[in-house]
Amino acid sequence: MALVTTSRLRSDRLIRTLLISAIFLLGVYTLFIWTDSSVGISVKPFRLEFDFDYRYAYAYADEDESEESLLRSESNTGSPTSTGSHHVSLKPRSASERLIASGEGFCENWTVPEDEEEVARREQESSCWKDRHYRQLKFFLDNAETDKSYSELSSSRWHNDLNKRNMKALRALFACLPHFGSPEPRPEECHDNMLNVMVFHDWWFDMAVAGGSESGETVWLRAIVETLTEENYTFVNLNHHQYQNLVKVHNALPDVVTFIYARDTLALSCLSDPRCRSDFPPNTTSVERIPMEQRGTIPSWKLFTVDYWGARPGDHGRSKHAYGIQWGEEMTFNPLGNEWTVAPFPYPGHTYIPLTLEKSCLQLDVVPHDQRKEEVTVLGKLYVNLARDTEYFYPHRMGLVPQDVWPPFQNATSLAPIANARALKDTDVEQSTPPGLINRGPVPSNDYTRQVATSKVLLTIGRPEISPSPYLALCLGVPVVVPYFGNKAVPEGWDLYHSSEVQHGPAAAIGPPYVYSYQMGENEDMYAAVRAARDTPIERYIPEDMRHAHVRAEIMKLVTTDWQPRSREIEAERVERGEPAQALVKQHITERLFHLGVGRRMGGNGELLDTLYDDEK
Ligand SMILES: *[C@@H]1O[C@H](CO)[C@@H](O)[C@H](O)[C@H]1NC(C)=O
Ligand SMILES: *[C@@H]1O[C@H](CO)[C@@H](O)[C@H](O)[C@H]1NC(C)=O
Ligand SMILES: *[C@@H]1O[C@H](CO)[C@@H](O)[C@H](O)[C@H]1NC(C)=O
Ligand SMILES: *[C@@H]1O[C@H](CO)[C@@H](O)[C@H](O)[C@H]1NC(C)=O
Repeated sequence: MALVTTSRLRSDRLIRTLLISAIFLLGVYTLFIWTDSSVGISVKPFRLEFDFDYRYAYAYADEDESEESLLRSESNTGSPTSTGSHHVSLKPRSASERLIASGEGFCENWTVPEDEEEVARREQESSCWKDRHYRQLKFFLDNAETDKSYSELSSSRWHNDLNKRNMKALRALFACLPHFGSPEPRPEECHDNMLNVMVFHDWWFDMAVAGGSESGETVWLRAIVETLTEENYTFVNLNHHQYQNLVKVHNALPDVVTFIYARDTLALSCLSDPRCRSDFPPNTTSVERIPMEQRGTIPSWKLFTVDYWGARPGDHGRSKHAYGIQWGEEMTFNPLGNEWTVAPFPYPGHTYIPLTLEKSCLQLDVVPHDQRKEEVTVLGKLYVNLARDTEYFYPHRMGLVPQDVWPPFQNATSLAPIANARALKDTDVEQSTPPGLINRGPVPSNDYTRQVATSKVLLTIGRPEISPSPYLALCLGVPVVVPYFGNKAVPEGWDLYHSSEVQHGPAAAIGPPYVYSYQMGENEDMYAAVRAARDTPIERYIPEDMRHAHVRAEIMKLVTTDWQPRSREIEAERVERGEPAQALVKQHITERLFHLGVGRRMGGNGELLDTLYDDEK
């Protein structure tokens, strides 16, 4: 959200496109170290092969054993994991592979039922998953013929294209049913991977699928959409204003939907709503009041939150306001934990799918160092208030850098500081930038990229936080200089992403000769960092984990992991600690959502409610 609000500089669009790339090295390397050595993390003895790190669980069954039996056998085997005991490959099996394997011996020679009677008969008699899929998809598609609430799941005027895509994808899935898992020649448009059905319930996903935005969120999610498209996954986009569509789609297609990726408020709403979530803790008053036939169908393990900013603890960023989280209190969207929060930075405990700018950035040339201008591009996306001050440059606004840094800048660094500031909703060159700064005003995005590419340094001055822009500069072979505000240039844990500690911790963690840090307010420190960057040319630099191939592999790991066994692990651990197996979203979080007007729940007649209690007006 905030990224967008701060990305108003028109000329910066390309940057944003390219953008998102590189964040975090340090965090990343740290993560890799954990990942690689994480097998020993203590989990309950588990018979099958797995590799638990703090984000992913891989519980891969021997080919012919169901997860159920594996889970049951888990407690019978004494030996805890040890690094030497892996003897089966950790190759993930996607939901489509698991489904097809479950049909062995039951689905051979499956044919489309001739009539309603046969459908009904098979409901009693058939053990083939295709009959279940057939019933659910047919119900859905039949309804969609006559009822727009089924065919227009993404029904704002922006999204008409998405409605068509949704229906096309579900019809294709239905039409291909006879061919999945079949050794016979099949129509070329039928691929087993279509059985991996992803439901997206987030506006940025709409943008990533249909186009129309180059925000950091969109660029990030587009890699996911592109990867899943290449893999022939099925996806369905739901309008994020229409929570009821999530309930409707999943109630109709409970066995067809593989995973749901929702925005924060919708995931929290569902997980607090017994008419949405199926594994609501039993014997809680909120669920006992709800008749069985009205209870939800979505198990917690299917529901992920996608969030650029992550589920931050109460003393970091927006959690206090947005979720009513207290100082120092931890935040999760899914009560199962933040493995169910997908983010573009390696936030503690989150599932990390990095941004990647590689594809677009490689199309840009690196300007040889001796052809660069004696200039520093000052990243100060603007966004100016009514008084027409450029916020980033003025301490009494949100700007953080002292104004007296600019007059001596050129003398101190022998580079001219260039800004591209404009007033909000105004294409005029911003006139009120501080003396000493050369403001060229907004320029078209290609020109802006060119300006960065021909600069000796990209200097950031406090905001925007963790934006992708530094990664674009690095990819153009331009070193970056970033400030910190606390005691450490590269803080640890959540502080690495804390906007009052450091502007761009993940970039800062890359370190020289790519990224230099200066202490905010220490002008000499800033000049020294700029001079060091100026005097140390670099080649094009793309952090390894922001390479396209790596990001793609991480996406596939996320979508092919079987998250249900992982959720059972977590539940078993709770039981062992004497807690109930299922956890609730904390009451004060739910209350906060409804207080802010963003909470949603279903009523007894299928109506959408935005009040938390039945007696509320
Ligand atoms: C499927 O058809 C083949 C060939 O007609 C036949 O040999 C096989 O027994 C059938 N399988 C089942 C489960 O009916
Ligand atoms: C996806 O579909 C395309 C086009 O039908 C096909 O060429 C490709 O092999 C498929 N890939 C996978 C992984 O199913
Ligand atoms: C729920 O309450 C009922 C009746 O009070 C009791 O029999 C049952 O064991 C409880 N279930 C759980 C999971 O606590
Ligand atoms: C530039 O620096 C030199 C020597 O460091 C100093 O003598 C001169 O006054 C400075 N000029 C300005 C405009 O600050």
